[in-house]
Order: sequence, then C-alpha cells, then structure tokens
Amino acid sequence: MKPIRKVVIPVAGLGTRVLPATKSIPKELLPIVDRPLIDYVVSEAFEAGIEHVILVTGRGKSAIEDYFDHAVELEAALAAKGKDDILASLRSRQPKAGAISYTRQQAPLGLGHAVNCARALIGDEPFAVSLPDVIIDGAPGALAQMVREYEKTGGNIIAVEEVDPKETGKYGIVAPKSERAGRIFEMSGMVEKPTPETAPSNLAITGRYILQPEIFDQLDKTQRGAGGEIQLTDAMAALMEAQPFFAFEYEGVSHDCGDKLGWLKANVRLSLKNSEFADSFREFLRKQVN
Ligand code: G1P
Repeated sequence: MKPIRKVVIPVAGLGTRVLPATKSIPKELLPIVDRPLIDYVVSEAFEAGIEHVILVTGRGKSAIEDYFDHAVELEAALAAKGKDDILASLRSRQPKAGAISYTRQQAPLGLGHAVNCARALIGDEPFAVSLPDVIIDGAPGALAQMVREYEKTGGNIIAVEEVDPKETGKYGIVAPKSERAGRIFEMSGMVEKPTPETAPSNLAITGRYILQPEIFDQLDKTQRGAGGEIQLTDAMAALMEAQPFFAFEYEGVSHDCGDKLGWLKANVRLSLKNSEFADSFREFLRKQVN
C-alpha cells in the first residue's frame, strides 16, 4: 500500500461569507488567535506525516505564498532589535524548502475542479485533501487519525460528523452501507447539499479526505452539479462503484471558519486553550455573560 505523502488544499475560494473581512485579504489568512487559518490546516497535515503540500490558489491569493516564505526584512529587523524569541518562533514555523507547491485554479468551477488542478503534482498515488475553512481541534489531528485508519483499510476515507438534520443543505451528506458500529464504516452513497427531505443521513462531510488517484479520471468526466459547480462529492459517488469508500467519525471538534459565527467560536475555543492568556480571557468572558 502506498503511503499518503501529499495533501491538496484548495485556497482559491472568494470567502464571500466573511466579507468585508476578506475584501482585500485571502480568507485563509484570517487569524484564529495568533495564527492564520491556513497555518492550522498545513500544520495538521505535517503532523499526519504529509511531506508535500499543494495549495491550489487563485487571483488575489499571493499573500498566502508570502506567509510560508522567509520574511527577510522582518527577520533582519527582529534580529537588529534583539527580539530573538520572536525570531526563533517565526523560524520554527517555516516549512522546509520545497515542501509547499502552488498551482492556480484559473476559473471558479468548484471544489472538484480545484482538486483536479493538482493532478500533475499528485501523479499516481493516494493523497489527502484538506479544506482550509474547516479547523478541527483534535489530538492527534483529524488527518493523522485518518492516516492511521487508512493504514488498516486502504481505499478512500472521508471525514464525517453528525450535523443538525435541518442543515444538510450546507454539506455533502453520506449514506452508511449498514448499521454503524464504531468510528469507521463503509458507505453506499453520498450526495452534495441535499434538502433535509432527501438527505440519506445527517452525517456530513467535514473537509478532510483520503483519495485514490483514480478520482482524477472521474473528475474529468464529472458534469456541473449542485450550485452549478464541478463537485468532488459527485466524482467520489461515481468512483464508489469501483472502489471501497469509508466514512470516518474523527475525535475532535470542527469549526467552519468560512462563516462569521464559526470563526468567532474557533477564536474563543482556541483562546481558552492558549497557555499565555487562557485564564485572563476566561475571566473576561465570564464578565461579559453575567
Ligand atoms: C464543501 C464540500 C462539502 C463539504 C463541505 C465541508 O462544500 O463540497 O461536501 O460538506 O465543503 O465544509 P462548501 O462548503 O465548499 O460549499
């Protein structure tokens, strides 16, 4: 079985749900406590043993490339001022040279199209996909949990979690093959953004995937679906006829940070875990709600 060495992270989205914050900066650079969103998702991938991160970018997203590059002038200024701790902390977060590649999605044709843009960089091996809107607070991280499962099952694995049955229209929803027993189970189908009446369950796809390279041939054939976009969910549903697909309920809490309330909740939850100021922040919050 080939190991999971690469992750595709689509970062070309416009971030319309969090405007005007994202009018002039990519939504992937919105801060959660003291790091941009994308930093959490890339760190989760490295923690899972990923060696190569492929960011599928678009117009107006070049600040993401700067974030992962050496900031030469900033580092020189910090060194000159003797701010060695901050400098060391910045450098410790710097990915290894060559660990991140960028390719562009030249038209906003949907998540399936974005993943297909990474085809040449993935080649013929299984790979992960992580959506940058979704931060999953888990230990180990959700992708590391999935890689551990993959080593036992092979095939394709999709992270899922239960959502309010009224909200199925916001997600891809999976259909378990039989009665669920445990955190990982086979699926019989999946559908993108179904109405509550037509949804096969309330198990939503939460933005982490392990996929076999045959998905690319399927994406080539996939027509526009929900929202007029080429949907990854539709390509996966078709590939399911030829390959095993497992749903995996990870241990952890997810936050949809592409949404204003989700972004706020992520900030509060992760601030309360920050050793530097958790206590005073908790104290502050207590006063606000009384
Ligand atoms: C995408 C996927 C969807 C998934 C969701 C998770 O939708 O297409 O299947 O449930 O991410 O955040 P989007 O939120 O990009 O519309």
